[in-house]
Amino acid sequence: MCGIFGYVGSRRDAGTLVVEGLKNLEYRGYDSWGMAYKPNGSIVVRKDIGKISDVRSEDFGAPCSLAIAHTRWATHGGVTQCNAHPHLSCDGKIAVVHNGIVENYGPLRDALKTKGHTFLSQTDTEIIPHLIEEEMKNTADFAAAVRGAVRKLDGRFAVVAMHTDSQSLVAARNGSPLIIGAIKGATQGYCVASDIPAFLEHTRTVQYLDDGEMAVSDGRGILFSDIATGAERTKREIEITWSPEQARKGDFEHYMLKEIMEQKESVARAVNQNEEQILTLAKAIQEARGTFLVGCGTAGKACMAADYFFSVVAGKHVNYTPASEFKLYHRFLKPESLVIVVSQSGETADVLEAMRVAKSKGSKVLAVVNVEGSTIHRDADYTLLINAGPERAVASTKALTGQLAVLLLIAYALAGKLRDGRTVLLETAAEINDMLNPRYVERLKKLAEKLKDCRDLFIIGKGWNYPMALESAIKIQEVSYVHAEGFAGGELKHGPIALIEQGTPCIVLAGEDEVQQDILNNATELKARGAFIIGVAPRKHEVFDAWIKVPDAAAAQPIVNIIPIQVLSYFLAVSRGKNPDMPRNLAKSVTVK
Ligand code: AGP
Repeated sequence: MCGIFGYVGSRRDAGTLVVEGLKNLEYRGYDSWGMAYKPNGSIVVRKDIGKISDVRSEDFGAPCSLAIAHTRWATHGGVTQCNAHPHLSCDGKIAVVHNGIVENYGPLRDALKTKGHTFLSQTDTEIIPHLIEEEMKNTADFAAAVRGAVRKLDGRFAVVAMHTDSQSLVAARNGSPLIIGAIKGATQGYCVASDIPAFLEHTRTVQYLDDGEMAVSDGRGILFSDIATGAERTKREIEITWSPEQARKGDFEHYMLKEIMEQKESVARAVNQNEEQILTLAKAIQEARGTFLVGCGTAGKACMAADYFFSVVAGKHVNYTPASEFKLYHRFLKPESLVIVVSQSGETADVLEAMRVAKSKGSKVLAVVNVEGSTIHRDADYTLLINAGPERAVASTKALTGQLAVLLLIAYALAGKLRDGRTVLLETAAEINDMLNPRYVERLKKLAEKLKDCRDLFIIGKGWNYPMALESAIKIQEVSYVHAEGFAGGELKHGPIALIEQGTPCIVLAGEDEVQQDILNNATELKARGAFIIGVAPRKHEVFDAWIKVPDAAAAQPIVNIIPIQVLSYFLAVSRGKNPDMPRNLAKSVTVK
């Protein structure tokens, strides 16, 4: 929801470093930005509304070796300069940035007011530096004061704080991600950030803060401890495999198009799983008594498609539920249950909550994630990484097809046909590589320009293409702001078909499968009422007014069908003058419930 980045170390341009690094976190929030550093020994805060990408990092080059920075996705309080982070204590000596929500900030704020504290913003965050200031009345130890303050917070948070009179950077985490980057050698120091791209150009050596933990560093060393008890913790260092180039746009105008095109390789990487591990997971699913598939948004649609994969390929009944709805199924969780969670970021709050409840009931959790070392990755009983590489665009594309590939592979393994599954998926990966060529992309760009002024856009599918119809709607909605809706083809005549007018564009997702004729019949019903039918299918059918050719991919059809829709969504956004990487009201990782 927000991006945090802090640095302490031997470099003397900490202000420039954190602002530059923050630009790599812009996808986490772009309402406003801010930074704090100590150019002349005292804390200076610079912040404003707008995008960090418009800020000149060299403007913050005054010598200093400790700084913090933040990009905001507003939760409490509007998008104003005053509400931007960092926030300060009354005496201006403590600066804090925060990601998350302080659920008890009302009573805490009232109590602080009775002690004479005054507040400038409408944010929940602003109470944190004042809580620390109160703690400093009882201790000169800044880290101890931060510990005392964060122990009073209810809710999920990642907090990074600095003090005018201290050379230490203090970080505390409970629910929202914080990752430490350890820089060795001549420019020794420590970074703390919400996500790895912030410091990937400086180091690939990372240590993960877990919930209920703090880290304190003076740039030469780092101390991890338990927030509640103060007990020291040790953290192993992990070498990240991602390269800085992977986390940058390269020659593409937007991350979204770069990541769509990366599917030429990323699907094959997803399929490249340890065979023994897949068979073990298939066995766990086979033996489970009650298997749930849980995710949000696009990842949730991968879960929904997997519901069909398990049914059609493996004859196994599993239960897909959006993570935000999972609470209503807790009563069915038993120690013999298995919950499969799917998440690109591995930090989505609703999914983390589903995992927490599942584990509290003794159920096992299998995670299918992209970000290595994410909370979901570390807390699950079993994990499969989709190996898609950093996904920076808010719109999830290559992660989705990676998730679908892994889930389909598991379904094949469950059916005792792992080798067949790998063959189908590797052939599909090769087909995608061929499909995503310049001529194909150009045709989709032209179709997008034809559709760019449409008021409504409908997408229909059946079977495993129904979840892709819903996913198509998410893609189109979230980057182009066109009103798009996905339907199960068979549901149209029960109401939605009343929406069809002359020329209404309707995308039809089809495959060479047992439900092909059904969905073509649905398309015919739409066409009879004036709809403009855009077919996404391996073969052209008479009912199509426009045809987007896709490979015949059998059970992997959802993977190939969604890719042209991703491209279409991208060009719809661009043709409508929108920035597909930073859509309004959205953020890449929804770390609040
Ligand atoms: C997808 O394009 C959206 N950005 C959103 O639906 C996203 O898939 C959802 O928030 C889940 O995120 P996750 O995969 O990181 O858990």
